Amino acid sequence: MKVLITGGAGFIGSNFVRYLINSRRNIEIINFDSLTYAGNPESLADIADNPRYKFVRGDITDKDAVNGVFGERLDALVNFAAETHVDRSIEDASPFVRTNIMGTQTLLDAAKRFKLAKFVQISTDEVYGSAPAGESFTEETTLDPRSPYAASKASADHFVSAYANTYGLPAVVLRCTNNYGPYQFPEKLIPLMIANAREDKSLPIYGDGMQERDWLFVEDYCSAIGLALEKAAPGAIYNVSAGTPQPNLKIVRTILQHLGKPESLMQYVKDRPGHDRRYALDSSKIQRELGWSAAVPFEEGIRRTIDWYQNNSAWLDHARSGEYRNYYDRHYVRRTETFSR
Ligand code: NAD
Ligand code: TYD
Repeated sequence: MKVLITGGAGFIGSNFVRYLINSRRNIEIINFDSLTYAGNPESLADIADNPRYKFVRGDITDKDAVNGVFGERLDALVNFAAETHVDRSIEDASPFVRTNIMGTQTLLDAAKRFKLAKFVQISTDEVYGSAPAGESFTEETTLDPRSPYAASKASADHFVSAYANTYGLPAVVLRCTNNYGPYQFPEKLIPLMIANAREDKSLPIYGDGMQERDWLFVEDYCSAIGLALEKAAPGAIYNVSAGTPQPNLKIVRTILQHLGKPESLMQYVKDRPGHDRRYALDSSKIQRELGWSAAVPFEEGIRRTIDWYQNNSAWLDHARSGEYRNYYDRHYVRRTETFSR
């Protein structure tokens, strides 16, 4: 089986490439990635020479490049390629429209043209919007995206459904909650807090810090994607989550405790505009139909994640150089100047 992975140099993509190479001896992978600020070939240095792995640098909005790679007689595609950071989408939505919507449509056209047998779209829980306390969204919940990032991902989901409906494209959509683990770019909550705490820098908490996210260890998500790739029926949509939403403050305190750092490092800053209060999914459908379940409890996953960042400071330092530094200064200096409490 030959699988095209788009965005395989990013956080979840690189974890999934490694997972497939190590767990499925019959699978060949082409990793197609344009290497934006979030893409890092160092994240796959350990498997770069594997004969079942090939890297192609290319952009999913580039029709010729996409058709070129589809010419390699693919059996399936898993589309991770995306602009993924909500704060950046608030700053400028254009790259999100370009990659997340137009890029997905370019891939869908190629999949139609080359009669691809399986298209797995990596979506997000954020397409459903904010979940009221005590509620978990199912796959039937109406999409209500509220940030520019979420709107671009929901639009891509609609395109995937439209191609399935109109052209019979065999597509599967996965909507997962926040992931954490090794190789996550340090703009996202958990690696950012680990990176700052290690250096005794302040930890910026947006608003009151009581927003809830349902963190899933990335290895658990990889096993869900592997099952969907092999077993999900065309047209299926699956939610994927650990089922344990937790407030941001609790996550940050846990990180500080593990690193032996004081809570005084936490700094409350101006809230994100339009900040979704709570994400929570019901993932009983994938458990029932594909036999998936999360195996790594949060306590274990966060310890493994912190250890990984501690032991891979060169990866972290590289990720935090260059473009990251500009983003950090631009985004957080303004936020802390308008310090909210
Ligand atoms: P990431 O930002 O770490 O990586 C994105 C990857 O896509 C990078 O390697 C980047 O170079 C590549 N890319 C971006 N634009 C591209 C383009 N035009 N052409 C080719 N490659 C391009 O992202 P991630 O956190 O690993 O997320 C992967 C997918 O999972 C995304 O679709 C995201 O929406 C979804 N998702 C992520 C989370 C999470 O918690 N990280 C949760 C739910 C869903
Ligand atoms: P993030 O990792 O950006 O993921 P998402 O917004 O896609 O869920 O943020 C997770 C939560 O952490 C979210 O409620 C925003 C909050 N947050 C902070 O409080 N401070 C920060 O510096 C960042 C990056 C996020």
